[in-house]
Amino acid sequence: MHTNIPDLFNGLWQDYVAITPSAHKIHALLMSVDTISKQKQEIVNDHIALRTFDIEKVGLPKLAQHFINLGYEQKGDYDFAAKKLTAQHFEHPDPTIPKVFISELRVKELSDTAQNIIGKLVAQIDAEAVHADNFLYSGTHWQVSSEDYKALLKESEYAAWMSAWGYRANHFTVSVNHLPKISETSTSKLEQVNTLLKEAGFMLNTSGGEIKGGKDVCLAQSSTMADSANVTFSDGELSIPSCFYEFAERFPLPSGEIYTGFVAASADKIFESTNAS
Ligand code: NI
Repeated sequence: MHTNIPDLFNGLWQDYVAITPSAHKIHALLMSVDTISKQKQEIVNDHIALRTFDIEKVGLPKLAQHFINLGYEQKGDYDFAAKKLTAQHFEHPDPTIPKVFISELRVKELSDTAQNIIGKLVAQIDAEAVHADNFLYSGTHWQVSSEDYKALLKESEYAAWMSAWGYRANHFTVSVNHLPKISETSTSKLEQVNTLLKEAGFMLNTSGGEIKGGKDVCLAQSSTMADSANVTFSDGELSIPSCFYEFAERFPLPSGEIYTGFVAASADKIFESTNAS
């Protein structure tokens, strides 16, 4: 396991941008805006998200341990019944350190066919590898056929994505709070970011609307649709959705403190950013 947080996030980021070329372009776009405020532009990461299967060897607690060891604490619990997912989020006592959202697929709720495919994948992982420094950005530890990928895709997009991409950040998230206003208009900062992205040709996830949540739930989120990248399956290569970029604007609770949790109804739609568009 890593002994310092910057090394872990640097490893996650390098792996993520290698299959998500849009991330660099989005950074350049956000940095290039000639702001009304003339504030210094900086891109702050609100959170990353990781995915796994709820099999003991690689379950959510195994991924979380990498962060617990670095001082993170478990906060919210989330359930996504239709997608058969359980999730938790983790925060570091230092609020400038990115939050972490980890979900796991409840494999036993899938068909026997899907359970068998996933069981074979997880069986190929060396149990020791789960504790390695680079495990959270180590990708797949197995061979999978495009036939099995497609079989999983029929039942669970999440399962199919995991079979192809394995262990890595599913997305990074720009903290919109830390961006200066892009224009003088009265639209929200997140809406301004969305407009900028669309004008530059990025495709946004429109499931549940371009903006999920809002001030009323203290968190507004949007995301791009995932980039495409080539995956080498045991029987050939396919270009499939890889990872995406999210944008989060957080609002204060009645207490005045900025909300640091997640909103299940919004996260449910964000998962669909890796659907084939
Ligand atoms: Ni997210």
